[in-house]
Amino acid sequence: MLRIQGGTPLVGTVEVRGAKNLVPKAMVAAVLGEAPSRLWGVPAIRDVDIVTDLLELHGVSVRPGEAGELVLDPSNVERAAVADIDAHAGVSRIPVLFCGPLLHRLGHAFIPDLGGCRIGDRPIDFHLDALRQFGAIVDKRADGLHLTAPERLRGTRLELPYPSVGATEQVLLTAVRAEGVTELRNAAIEPEIVDLICVLQKMGAIISVHTDRVIRITGVDRLGGFSHRALPDRLEAASWASAALATGGDITVRGARQVDLMTFLNVYRQVGGEFEVGEEAIRFWHPGTDLRAVPLETGVHPGFQTDWQQPLVVALTQASGLSIVHETVYENRFGFTGALRDMGAHIQLYADCLGGTPCRFGQRNFQHSAVISGPTKLQAADLDIPDLRGGFSYVIAALAAQGTSTVRGIELISRGYEDFLTKLTALGALIES
Ligand code: EPU
Repeated sequence: MLRIQGGTPLVGTVEVRGAKNLVPKAMVAAVLGEAPSRLWGVPAIRDVDIVTDLLELHGVSVRPGEAGELVLDPSNVERAAVADIDAHAGVSRIPVLFCGPLLHRLGHAFIPDLGGCRIGDRPIDFHLDALRQFGAIVDKRADGLHLTAPERLRGTRLELPYPSVGATEQVLLTAVRAEGVTELRNAAIEPEIVDLICVLQKMGAIISVHTDRVIRITGVDRLGGFSHRALPDRLEAASWASAALATGGDITVRGARQVDLMTFLNVYRQVGGEFEVGEEAIRFWHPGTDLRAVPLETGVHPGFQTDWQQPLVVALTQASGLSIVHETVYENRFGFTGALRDMGAHIQLYADCLGGTPCRFGQRNFQHSAVISGPTKLQAADLDIPDLRGGFSYVIAALAAQGTSTVRGIELISRGYEDFLTKLTALGALIES
């Protein structure tokens, strides 16, 4: 639990390390190799701890090197006891990505019930359909998924119903060592996926990315290790940018890269936020004048990333006029706005696809569009963190509000934000834990 005294602009410098949505996946990729791998830029977050535990259960040695470095040795991959894996049920979505690597190495994989943020139903049907097409046998039992590959997995032609990040990663991690060519259509092409492709290419994989979301993978018999520095966390960078805007502050984010944040930067500028791109950092600040409301639609890359949405919505409560935000990636990512309303924000949710193109969730009664009317002064409140990005948004809202708020459930934030309390304190936030 935190007690946060609002009203102080956040000012100073923070540093982002490797991306939460790449690092754990690169760690899983190491299982495919027959030599040790070295990964730099590893943040100290819980998702990394969970994957480390799962790798160690499967005989992979995971040793820390210098700060932010991991050395992963998969020489002795072995089956893990179902009960030991099951102890990690319900805490993360990464375990599902072990399927392909374990099937290649051991012919068998057990995947416990998944966790992750409750921002929608988050099924894994695309993953399982793809694995079946590669020739895996999927047995759904009460304790989780048991997968077997009686023969070597075979390359295949696949088309995803939606460009899912996780399902694209599943296909990449499986196809690289399958027999023959895999063609994936309607693939996700987020920067973290391109970085995973770089990791796999360093290991010896043959992967080509074509126009129109087509990826072709030519399977190889053996893969080696990799040495790789993870791309910086563009989602964390945007969270700090939104924190600067919402609190009237000025934050320099070391490690933030313009190329990964282009779409975010355009919206930031439209809202009235100022930024300056430097060699190794981007500085984000509030202009000192009124912010402007914007229409906004989240989408798959190169669209406006859904994970940028929640922190920015807090800043939009301080903008003049009506902002319309249409969330098209998750059907249920506006749960956090209830608490903002309690703090005085004017936010209405709608089941219609407002202000943009119709999406998969229209006509299905999901409250996936929000209209935010601002500016409104936020008042302190008692807040219970619902999910990772929603949690960070509550912290920003509490920092922007008048009075002292209590925020509970901060362990959810440490799943994806390294040292966030130290960083907040360095920026001048008045916080007691
Ligand atoms: N979907 C299906 N079936 C599937 C897979 C996905 O219907 O088999 C749907 C999902 O329900 C969702 C949409 O497809 O509506 C997109 O899901 P996707 O598979 O792309 O998401 P993910 O791989 O589960 C990753 C990140 C998320 C990020 C999304 C979108 C990780 C660990 N998580 O999730 O990050 O929002 O991609 O870019 O990489 C976060 O960091 O806070 C976070 C939630």
